[in-house]
Amino acid sequence: MSQKGFTLWFTGLSGAGKTTLADRVYDELKERRVLKVEKLDGDVVRTNLSKGLGFSKEDRDTNIRRIGFVCDLLSRNDVIAIASAISPYRAVRDENRALIGSDRFVEVYVEATLDTLVQRDVKGLYKKALAGEIKEFTGVSDPYEAPLHPEVHVNSSTETIDESFDAIIGYLEARGLIEPLPEQAGYSAAEEQAVSAHLEALGYL
Ligand code: ADX
Repeated sequence: MSQKGFTLWFTGLSGAGKTTLADRVYDELKERRVLKVEKLDGDVVRTNLSKGLGFSKEDRDTNIRRIGFVCDLLSRNDVIAIASAISPYRAVRDENRALIGSDRFVEVYVEATLDTLVQRDVKGLYKKALAGEIKEFTGVSDPYEAPLHPEVHVNSSTETIDESFDAIIGYLEARGLIEPLPEQAGYSAAEEQAVSAHLEALGYL
């Protein structure tokens, strides 16, 4: 089957699990032999494509527009583009959706409570933000506008990574954006019984 390109866009607070899930989906697609997949991660993009941008609303919007621009180029050319960035402002996310087209834009909202994030604090940024050492920190001292109608909504405060991952892959399969795995070859109940009877007769059971 020829692969149709699309953009899988992860949005949510820092530390919510966007990158973890994006990596899992990327690895899964590679394992399924989907050849053209690319990742655009906010933290990485900010070291090159968006180098020098800060965290004002204007800079964040520029960052998100740039990522959206690249995702559009890729997904138009049959690549699956996986973007993960806080992307706190609804209007710019929707701009990207309009640019890329609703038929090839899948927004995944990775929700997590602030409590969970402060507890996890993998990068130690929440502690600093709460102490006022980082200004304009999303979710603490800067806004985050949650999606109103995301295609997929997962919650890393209440679900395991596996559960969130399954929800995303399940959605993409159900929507026909990726091919489901073929049914695992297995035995029917009658066949199982016949095999058991046979093994029993041989003295193995
Ligand atoms: S976005 O707002 O423009 O979408 P992006 O996803 O690229 O943000 O970068 C977020 C990452 O930058 C966070 O995971 C965190 O590591 C770091 N960061 C540094 N300062 C801030 C801040 N003020 N607000 C949010 N994240 C910040």
